[in-house]
Amino acid sequence: MEHQMIKCFQFKTDHSMIKLNDNISDPDDDDSLVEIKILQDSDNRYSSITWPSADLLCRFILTNRMMFVGKTILELGSGTGICGIMAAKIGAKVILSDQTIDNSELILSNVDLNDVEARYIPLDWSKRTDLISDQIPNDLDYIIGSDLCYEDERQFEKLLFTIAFLFENNQQKTIPFYMAYHFRSSNYQIECLLRKFKLQCKLLFHSENLKIYLYEITLKNY
Ligand SMILES: C[S@@+](CC[C@H](N)C(=O)[O-])C[C@H]1O[C@@H](n2cnc3c(N)ncnc32)[C@H](O)[C@@H]1O
Repeated sequence: MEHQMIKCFQFKTDHSMIKLNDNISDPDDDDSLVEIKILQDSDNRYSSITWPSADLLCRFILTNRMMFVGKTILELGSGTGICGIMAAKIGAKVILSDQTIDNSELILSNVDLNDVEARYIPLDWSKRTDLISDQIPNDLDYIIGSDLCYEDERQFEKLLFTIAFLFENNQQKTIPFYMAYHFRSSNYQIECLLRKFKLQCKLLFHSENLKIYLYEITLKNY
């Protein structure tokens, strides 16, 4: 308990960032400001703190907010839930997920703290049975995730398998997965995994100083 604290994050529309929805008019286009309060637990290494990639993904969602309003979004590896909460704040229908049911307490506290609506499902990419779940709708519009490739390289394959599975089982197979990726080691190579799962990847944004990249991953040949 003593390791828990509430951190306040502020996000502004980022005009340096790629805008994918230029043809959709946004009444708040000039400068939207969104504040998100996050309860974190510094005692737990990964899922209970907010990682720098999440900042990039939140700014991307806010800057492209009109694309996400009213859309159904699944977030993988939500951690504290900040990116999904950003999406819910700007009007998306959000399903947050992480490895186990144990992650739900912190995530749902953060949902309440920000007065948004979002539900949580446990979704472990290494358990194929988790994917065959009627809790995951098949009418998703977007999948999002930040800092999901770290430490254990074997997780990359599981994550990309999961993404390919979700695409294939979605009514609309061409939906994108927006992934903020923190580059930590050149030993990690995902090119052959992309090929293996028939995925393609486009770089949308690169934050030079932090080595954080924003990718759009989609199914190939659609
Ligand atoms: C580095 S943290 C990033 C958390 C959050 N997305 C952020 O950017 O602040 C990685 C997240 O991936 C989750 N994760 C790791 N392996 C997973 C798996 N096999 N299935 C589902 N989630 C997993 C962890 O529980 C953790 O929440």
